[in-house]
Amino acid sequence: MSIPVIDISADTLELRLSEFAEVLHAAVLDGASVGFIVPFSFAEAEGFWRNRILPALREGGLILLAIEEGGRIVGTVQLDYNTPANQPHRAEVRKMLVHPAYRRKGYARALMVELERRARALKRSLLTLDTRTGDKAEPLYASLGYEVTGIIPDFCRDTLSDRLDPTTIMYKRL
Ligand SMILES: CC(C)(COP(=O)(O)OP(=O)(O)OC[C@H]1O[C@@H](n2cnc3c(N)ncnc32)[C@H](O)[C@@H]1OP(=O)(O)O)[C@@H](O)C(=O)NCCC(=O)NCCS
Repeated sequence: MSIPVIDISADTLELRLSEFAEVLHAAVLDGASVGFIVPFSFAEAEGFWRNRILPALREGGLILLAIEEGGRIVGTVQLDYNTPANQPHRAEVRKMLVHPAYRRKGYARALMVELERRARALKRSLLTLDTRTGDKAEPLYASLGYEVTGIIPDFCRDTLSDRLDPTTIMYKRL
C-alpha cells in the first residue's frame, strides 16, 4: 500500500507550523546536517519555517510535501524550482527530514517519489541536491538513481561538534 504524501500550502504551513518545527528540531538535535548547529531552540526551528519557507511558499517556486502519522507531520521535503531564467528545466531537492522516531518506514522514499512526480509535471528534467557525505540520505538518493558528481571537503560544520564535514553533490535526470 502506498504511503499518502500531502501537498502543503502556505496557509496549511502557517496552521501547522509547530508540527514542522518539531520535525526539524528533533532531527537537528539528533545530528541531522541540514543547515543548523546545536544549540538549536524550538523557536529557531519555528523561525525557519515562518521566516524562510512561508514567504517562499507564498511567492511561488517552492513545493512543500509532508507525511503524517497519528495526525501529526512526521516527514517533509521541498522542491525548489525558483531557478534562474537559464535553468527552467532544473529544480533543487531541499530539506528532506523525517522525525527520528519515525524512520525506516519508507517515508523518505515516498516523499522523493512524489517530489519527482511533481517535478516531472513542472517539466523539470534535472534534479540536483547535496547531502553530507556518508549520511543515511546518500543510500536513499543512490537507490532512487541519483548520481554522484563529486565531493567537496570541509563543506559544512558538523551539527554537534566543531568538525568540518564533506558534502556530496548528486543529480538525477528525470
Ligand atoms: C535520511 C532520512 C530522510 C531517511 O528517512 P527514512 O524515512 O528513514 O528513509 P526510508 O525509510 O524511506 O528509507 C529509504 C532508504 O534510505 C536509506 N536509508 C534510510 N535510513 C538508513 C540507515 N539508517 N542506514 C542506511 N540506509 C538508510 C536506505 O537505502 C532505505 O531503503 P531501504 O529501507 O529499502 O534499505 C532520515 O534519516 C533523516 O531525516 N535524516 C536526517 C536529515 C537528513 O540527513 N536529510 C537529508 C538532507 S540532504
